[in-house]
Amino acid sequence: MVNLIENIKVNSRIFVLSGAGLDAESNIKTFRASEGLWEGHDVYSVAHPDGWAKDRDLVNSFYNERRRHLLSSSVKPNDAHYALAELDKYFEVNIITQNISDLQNRAGSKSVIQMHGSLLEVFCENDRSHVYKWEKDLTTKDLCVECGGSQRVNVVWFSEPVLHLEKIQKLAASSDLFVSIGTSNQVFPANSLVTMFKQMNKPTVELNLEKTVNSELFDYGIYDKPATKSVVELKDSLIKNILEN
Ligand code: APR
Repeated sequence: MVNLIENIKVNSRIFVLSGAGLDAESNIKTFRASEGLWEGHDVYSVAHPDGWAKDRDLVNSFYNERRRHLLSSSVKPNDAHYALAELDKYFEVNIITQNISDLQNRAGSKSVIQMHGSLLEVFCENDRSHVYKWEKDLTTKDLCVECGGSQRVNVVWFSEPVLHLEKIQKLAASSDLFVSIGTSNQVFPANSLVTMFKQMNKPTVELNLEKTVNSELFDYGIYDKPATKSVVELKDSLIKNILEN
């Protein structure tokens, strides 16, 4: 790995793509571990506009359960989240996450972009710009305080466009290193970012518990240990490299 990161100097821009595997050791279930069910639910009934149209109460109660769990004492940032936050001291790190938890923010990272939205926000269906922090249960009775419109959790569902895509692509184009952590790389457009870095001839690293559909596209990968070990290992190598050069 050393020769791969030798050109990563102080203040180099590092682009991190993270997925559910980064939150797994914080007691948050991943998506594809349970045969396409998410916490026992068919994802299309709780993570697709059709499911919302069919049963708003079911969808709200699903996310209310996720939100309560996220805010419970059993869920907190893990060593991988903190290792990524520590990199802010030496590099310009942008963490583009597919996760809807706030664990990376809680760990203290300066730049976190949630491309699939946030469990702790709701938005107004009348006016998408009406977005609010939301930590309690959401029901269909909770209407937008600005315009009275109905509200839904600010999570990107299947068939919907991801958030901040233009900003993400601009950051990718100007970054020096791409690191993919804890994602199966099955969902577009997140899974197309590694190709952008390869076209720019920039180094790419994948940290995951197992090989993914994109693994052969990466210059280097660590697959035999969990994120709380592999991310710390990468962090230590990056810092050692700049302190010694
Ligand atoms: N350390 C590292 N990797 C892990 C760990 C761990 N402790 N635990 C699981 N993993 C890996 C799994 O091997 C898997 O490849 O994390 C990956 C998680 O993959 P998914 O469950 O598919 O989650 P993710 O890639 O984030 O899904 C992307 O799909 O369902 C949609 O919108 C949803 O954001 C989600 C998107």
